[in-house]
Amino acid sequence: MVHVTGLRGALRRQLDLSPIVVRAKDGEDYTLRPIEPGDAASLIRGYDAMSDQAKWFRMLHPVPHLTDEMARRFCSPDRDRDLCIVIIGHGQLLGEILGGARIAGEADGRRAEFSVSLRPEAQGLGLANQTLHMVLQAAKEMGYERVWGVIAVHNSAMLSLARRLGFTMHPDPDDAALIDAAIDLGTLASREFPGSQVSFAERTLIDPN
Ligand SMILES: CC(C)(COP(=O)(O)OP(=O)(O)OC[C@H]1O[C@@H](n2cnc3c(N)ncnc32)[C@H](O)[C@@H]1OP(=O)(O)O)[C@@H](O)C(=O)NCCC(=O)NCCS
Repeated sequence: MVHVTGLRGALRRQLDLSPIVVRAKDGEDYTLRPIEPGDAASLIRGYDAMSDQAKWFRMLHPVPHLTDEMARRFCSPDRDRDLCIVIIGHGQLLGEILGGARIAGEADGRRAEFSVSLRPEAQGLGLANQTLHMVLQAAKEMGYERVWGVIAVHNSAMLSLARRLGFTMHPDPDDAALIDAAIDLGTLASREFPGSQVSFAERTLIDPN
């Protein structure tokens, strides 16, 4: 099957129209929107704020610092095949990218790879759960059937999150330090995104979990 380029589901259209606001476990509201080219500098600052171990968990090879070129690429996903949703900070991190979740689609249009990461200040608030779920739901609407990723065996937070979202996990046959995670999007539990009537001026509020 060839992926139908340009296909847009309701959630993706909603995100293109207007940011979505979610409530985190700290009771605060956070804005989610697709990544933009202008986010590159903030992405670099956010990556620098992560511990060496978190950087390793995200990249699975040593990347001490995001170069301008890497950040530019992260901020310019292929609109037809990929999606990256970022979380915008407030307070001391006003306007900064706190992190986000992305899918990168494969050429056959059936499978996509996920990734997710957050600055340390934004962890433990359920934001990874909400953002990754949103990106998976958008992936399903875009026609993908399966989303996969590779998780370090010691990455307890990611393993717990993947389990909670319904990923199945198996030891990587080629590397004992890695777990292969995948989810059939047909099994993804839908969450309500009350956005069908959303307008540019409106903010859509989604409760945690
Ligand atoms: C993976 C990551 C995005 C998870 O972020 P998070 O803020 O913990 O995510 P959430 O708050 O949405 O919670 C995820 C779940 O993991 C649990 N969790 C968090 N830290 C944990 C830990 N150290 N051990 C076990 N479980 C943990 C949370 O309690 C939560 O479970 P719950 O929903 O049942 O309460 C974050 O740790 C991160 O950015 N890590 C560095 C980059 C990375 O590893 N990316 C993944 C690459 S595959």
